Amino acid sequence: MSQDWWRHAVIYQVYVRSFADSDGDGVGDLPGIRSRLAHLRDLGVDAVWITPFYASPMADGGYDVADYRAVDPQFGDLGDVRALVDDAHALGIRVIVDIVPNHSSDRHAWFQEALAGRGRERYVFREGVGDRPPNDWESVFGGPAWTRVADGSWYLHLFAPEQPDLNWELPEVREEFRDVLRFWLDLGVDGFRVDVAHGMVKAPGLPDIGHADQLTLLGTAPLPFFDQDGVHEIHRDWRAVVDSYPGERVLVAEAWTPSAERTALYLRPDEMHQAFNFHYLTAPWDRDALRSVIDSSLAAVAPVGAPTTWVLSNHDVQRHVTRYGGGEKGVRRARAALALMLALPGSVYLYQGEELGLPEVLDLPDEVLQDPMWERSGHTERGRDGCRVPLPWTTAGPSLGFGTGGSWLPQPPEWAKLSVEAQAGDQDSMLSFYRTALRARRENPATGVTVTWVDGPEGVLWFERDGVACALNLSGAVVELPDPGPVLLASSYYGVRDGQVLLPPDTALWWRTAAEAVTSDFA
Ligand code: NOJ
Repeated sequence: MSQDWWRHAVIYQVYVRSFADSDGDGVGDLPGIRSRLAHLRDLGVDAVWITPFYASPMADGGYDVADYRAVDPQFGDLGDVRALVDDAHALGIRVIVDIVPNHSSDRHAWFQEALAGRGRERYVFREGVGDRPPNDWESVFGGPAWTRVADGSWYLHLFAPEQPDLNWELPEVREEFRDVLRFWLDLGVDGFRVDVAHGMVKAPGLPDIGHADQLTLLGTAPLPFFDQDGVHEIHRDWRAVVDSYPGERVLVAEAWTPSAERTALYLRPDEMHQAFNFHYLTAPWDRDALRSVIDSSLAAVAPVGAPTTWVLSNHDVQRHVTRYGGGEKGVRRARAALALMLALPGSVYLYQGEELGLPEVLDLPDEVLQDPMWERSGHTERGRDGCRVPLPWTTAGPSLGFGTGGSWLPQPPEWAKLSVEAQAGDQDSMLSFYRTALRARRENPATGVTVTWVDGPEGVLWFERDGVACALNLSGAVVELPDPGPVLLASSYYGVRDGQVLLPPDTALWWRTAAEAVTSDFA
């Protein structure tokens, strides 16, 4: 396996509950993932990131961990993790697991002890102000970030009340997590996606924010509970642990910060290897916005020598086919967005089901919703279940091949046509395009770190890197480009007339420019 593999890897996210179910209980599991590894091999990804499968009461889909060293029986056991890692490695696919250090489950032994009045310093307990919580912080899922316990004191939970925040000022907490990292590294995993990597340290004195609608500040403004400088010491400590193992194991930060520059701090050479590029994910489908976020993303990581990452969807956001307008338009844009993303230098994250062009399920009945956001928001936010509906693998059968029973969220019947089985033999399908596009990237790897913009027709995003050009037509009308010669990849059909390429709207094209690599700056 190659050196610095993570710098230009394509990493596929598996949301374990919704990928494949081996035992018919309607919930995806580890043997299910194992049984579908061939799909990932055929897609051509370098690594898989698996969301939490640890012992959990599932108050937040497993991001509430009751035992960091145990597998939830719903998902399998430690033997299944070993078998999955071995099988994936045999196919040349690395395995990244999730780690959730900001908070544990309220069922974790430590929190149970804390409720009984012992070891409370492992969490963030405070006295309130009269009948009010200790400060004005709001939970990311809505409502106050504090819950009161029987003796009248309050504990902090930036997410659900079932997810009490750990106290990272305490050496015992730090040592425990070092040990958890070693546990999974010993088992053979290739790295960790670090949940809420920007949250573990809070501003001294837990000051009020003084702003009512704090959700609007997430990822856009400085907050006393996110992106505090103190988190970096923890990351440096973790990097030393990970580096003490052979085989280039990696740390990937989930870090929502107000700017690309703040995110780059997580990527200093002795910290994390990568961070999700949420600024890219949230950019609108607009030429100038995309160009600007590409520039700022590349510029921000340049001083720290880290690769940037690109991501369009994950288990927390609306699927991008829907975000980009839905229907045929959304699918067409999603194809072009993939071509753009794979042409950029750096590493790419894919979310399960985007290779099938799955849309967000917007009409899940109220009674099946499980995301804590739904309850916590007083039924005003439907939450994230719409992007977590189990995958369709076959055109028929119970839960469309997801498993032998039902599925924990209902699949739209029309997903039969979007199943892997339906798409695999169709050369125009989204699945075929993903396979083709990933192959084109492997054959023309994005190993450089810069892009050079080319002035083209208005509304066209056009750049070159590593001897490959990529043009994406965001103008809303057909544009003419000088015929570039042999095309390496096209996201949709295009025309050629009188030596000109006719590039339809929302279509991206790659072609080879020159044998030598492009080395000029991105500005
Ligand atoms: C980020 C995870 O991606 C999300 O699903 C979870 O709810 C929060 N962190 C809390 O752990």
